[in-house]
Amino acid sequence: MPLEKDEPWYKHAIIYQAHVRTFYDSNGDGIGDFPGLDEKLDYLVDLGINTIWLMPFFPSPLRDDGYDIADYYSVHSSYGTLEDFKKFLVSAHERRIRVIIEMVLNHTSDQHPWFQESRSSQENPRRDWYVWSSTDARYHEARIIFLDTEMSNWAWDPVSKSYYWHRFFSHQPDLNYDNPAVREEIWNVMKFWLEMGVDGFRLDAVPYLVEREGTNCENLPETHAILKELRRKLDEQFPGKMLLAEANQWPADLRPYFADGDEFHMAFHFPLMPRMFMGVKLEDRKPITEILQQTPEIPPSCQWCLFLRNHDELTLEMLTDIERDYMNDSYAQDKAMRLNLGIRRRLATLLDNDRRRIELMNGMLMSLPGTPSIYYGDEIGMGDNINLGDRNGVRTPMQWSGGWNGGFSAADPEKLYAPLIQDPVYGFPAVNVLSQKRTQHSLLNWMGRLIAVRKTTHAFGSGSIEFLYPGNQRILAYVRQLGDEKILVVNNLSNAAQAVELDLRRYKGNILIEMFGKNIFPRVGELPYLLTLGPYQFYWFRLRRI
Ligand code: GLC
Ligand code: CA
Repeated sequence: MPLEKDEPWYKHAIIYQAHVRTFYDSNGDGIGDFPGLDEKLDYLVDLGINTIWLMPFFPSPLRDDGYDIADYYSVHSSYGTLEDFKKFLVSAHERRIRVIIEMVLNHTSDQHPWFQESRSSQENPRRDWYVWSSTDARYHEARIIFLDTEMSNWAWDPVSKSYYWHRFFSHQPDLNYDNPAVREEIWNVMKFWLEMGVDGFRLDAVPYLVEREGTNCENLPETHAILKELRRKLDEQFPGKMLLAEANQWPADLRPYFADGDEFHMAFHFPLMPRMFMGVKLEDRKPITEILQQTPEIPPSCQWCLFLRNHDELTLEMLTDIERDYMNDSYAQDKAMRLNLGIRRRLATLLDNDRRRIELMNGMLMSLPGTPSIYYGDEIGMGDNINLGDRNGVRTPMQWSGGWNGGFSAADPEKLYAPLIQDPVYGFPAVNVLSQKRTQHSLLNWMGRLIAVRKTTHAFGSGSIEFLYPGNQRILAYVRQLGDEKILVVNNLSNAAQAVELDLRRYKGNILIEMFGKNIFPRVGELPYLLTLGPYQFYWFRLRRI
């Protein structure tokens, strides 16, 4: 569907989260690269996505897979050159695919020359670019995020004999945003990539930019002021570009990141995601309806970004202790699957490779209010490898075929940056793009159809939502509406067939058109509308007055 006038593009984006290193290795060195990603763009076009979000690809010691940046103005040599990136960007744009890149504002690698200078002496002009202290007692109310590896948010620097502040790994010192020179330089970095033509940024770890004594150092007004300033510059110099916030916070704390429509365009809905998994496990709509009711309205130009999985652990931070225990018991019985406050597994493995549940979850991802983001490999049901450390188990090479290295690379298998998934259920001989292309009913082809159907209406991207509350709690039903367009969505969250009576009286006289098969269902009358659904089945209906 063509975009209406003034409708921002990101409201109708279908985002595909890709990692250069994991996608396709064009030169046989065992590591994915930009020419490789470029070669695979048509695959993404076929899938129907229209936006790529790239994980960090900058020079880096890769101790946090590139979230530890050592140079913001270049490309990691394993992934290609800046020229390769530019070529890729042109190819993507030629295919009408927008490119969002990652921007890590909060911290750098300890290998970054800025930090090397900063630590070199207390008098160095860059000393104040990071947060230094003679004691490790300051800001003690700030929680530790990487609980499994870090004991403190302070680390001792033997070179300059003082402590530096870090919210993530100790090799990721936080930049000092109270220093105007830092703020200016970060804008220069963003400008560099915007001028090259990128369409937006996922801004990593934004709640933590500023520290203040006596607070938990998250979501501070000073942090919001800095983000708003970046947005102001963006609007002035690069209208039409987009900022997406990674702020893993409760709805009430997330809301300020949209401000009055003058801070972020989009933010991930972190609290919703685990509750979708809870809803299907409990076979109860309540976790989902409750969190969406608690979600405040956002300005009309703003948009939620929805996701089921990403490159990190499935975070359980935005849950109560009881909910978290429930999620761990349900989805991560093996302790090796747990990491920090989360679960390091992929979508297909979390859902026991149950095609019906995978479809249901993706159906909700595509029909609840927001812009969906799909994590690479989940469209074919790739598995994970919990024997790899940290979050690397969900970042294994993309499985293109059943052939050599799953079609990812011509290198010797020992040379790959990470081993392919090999197990009999999820391994590349069983789960790969080539074989799924050949079978009409494969998950890959089904995902393509789902995306295509989503794109037939703008109601999913920018319509309102109204929940129906049928007596049967196992059914999650809602109407998405934009102008005259009305879509009724009915999800069966349970493992058994269900009947449901929906009160559709206000739509009396409409017929229901099932959106995948385009078949007509009976007209809505005065009586409760009866539907039956198989286990984990869902329906999308267009309501039409004919
Ligand atoms: C974000 C990223 C995560 C990274 C962390 C530190 O949370 O999603 O992968 O480790 O920031 O940069
Ligand atoms: Ca390569």
